Amino acid sequence: MTTTQLTQAHTHPASLARARERIGLITEAARRAGSYVASAAHRPVAPSAEAVAALDAFRTSLPTTGREPREVLAELDAFGSPATTVVNGGRYFGFVTGGTDPTAGAASILAGAWDQNVGGGSPTGQAIDAVACAWVIEALGLPSTAVAAFNGGATVANLTGIIAGRDALLARRGWSVAEQGLQGAPRLRVVVGEEVHASALKALRLAGFGEEQIERVPTDGTGAVRADAFPTDTDDLTVVLLQAGNVNTGASDPFGAVIPGVRERGGWVHVDGAFGLWAAASATHRHRVAGVDLADSWATDAHKWLSVPYDSGIVVVRDGEDLHRAMAGDAAYLRFAADAPMNRGIQISQRARAIETWAMLATHGRDGLAALIDRHCEQARRFSSALAAGGAEILAPVELNQVLVAFGDERETDATIAAIQAEGTTWAGATAWKGRRAMRISVSDSATTDDDVDASAEAMLRCWRAVRG
Ligand SMILES: Cc1ncc(COP(=O)(O)O)c(C=O)c1O
Repeated sequence: MTTTQLTQAHTHPASLARARERIGLITEAARRAGSYVASAAHRPVAPSAEAVAALDAFRTSLPTTGREPREVLAELDAFGSPATTVVNGGRYFGFVTGGTDPTAGAASILAGAWDQNVGGGSPTGQAIDAVACAWVIEALGLPSTAVAAFNGGATVANLTGIIAGRDALLARRGWSVAEQGLQGAPRLRVVVGEEVHASALKALRLAGFGEEQIERVPTDGTGAVRADAFPTDTDDLTVVLLQAGNVNTGASDPFGAVIPGVRERGGWVHVDGAFGLWAAASATHRHRVAGVDLADSWATDAHKWLSVPYDSGIVVVRDGEDLHRAMAGDAAYLRFAADAPMNRGIQISQRARAIETWAMLATHGRDGLAALIDRHCEQARRFSSALAAGGAEILAPVELNQVLVAFGDERETDATIAAIQAEGTTWAGATAWKGRRAMRISVSDSATTDDDVDASAEAMLRCWRAVRG
């Protein structure tokens, strides 16, 4: 809006002043956000102890009176920004963290200003949500008739898929969870791989399945379920959880060998593909998740490999009716279309998360997405070669964007990880693999360059040398 348009729209001086103040505040926030991301590559990845200690500035009692909004923003930036872990500067390799793509990050600023509740009543939010859902389904090579829904993350997406499966299997036996609840329902059998992610176990617990009900199938050296050890006597009351992308190794379960049998015997297959499902978007890496499209439901994250801001998970269910049966809600004041987001997920009110995914995919397209996946997989191999050349031990084949590494014995590995995390050049997390301490490197920040990989590998080896003394 130009100054003239602003003055014409706000004829009352107080209204004009309020509009100016709001524009000024948002511009100020965007300026501060811009200088944060512009400096991300040059900041230490882990905040200094002093910066963390300075967070005490926030630890005050609830103020009685208010303050100038600009003062509040300045305080947030002055004390908050320096104590962040810099996940979008190219050298953060912890967890599976997709440092935000620039357009997705910028779109979230505009979407934040819109403040749309996409659960039921936002034309823009719902239109973009529908397009983003269709694009994600297409990019992942899932059935075009499947139905997707955005939510807070893969854990929520896993929970949604598991509940959809649970309710669908019981419905096929004539049991309505909506009408009859779960107590007294036919008992369901649950089969998972030994390497099932903690998120899927949490989702199972929330969906009413206890440890004693869960059967674990042995996995091979890469962490993938062994098809030869998979039970062949599953039935129409069996929920199977498979995985695309082991969080340590990137390995995926043998979908083609397992899913058809389970489904022919009437069971439900849910795939936790928080990051690994995105391998399907690359012609080079698609074979690693071959057959994943045969499942009944899938969970993935946009905030991981797709590099959109937190918190953005996605559930996809083959038959929309199964998702709707489990998730639809109703109230006299909430009469929205059956396919409104609130009827496809756990939340009623929800921010319009899909806008960021739409912006990311609109900017990069199918080719750009494939290039991102390919680049990260190549960079993982580059990491692995550099570390192996420096004497570190690579503990599993590099399947996708994950590298699993040990630096000498257990004590040295732990001490090296601690040194790397404190040093500030780069950051990677600790894990355990087949009974050994290890460091896991996840290449998933869209900002990561080959130079970042080289500098980070060098810093890791430098820290190891320092530990060895
Ligand atoms: C395989 C897998 N599943 C689920 C999750 C949980 O995802 P979220 O933290 O988005 O709930 C993760 C997170 O790393 C993961 O790697």
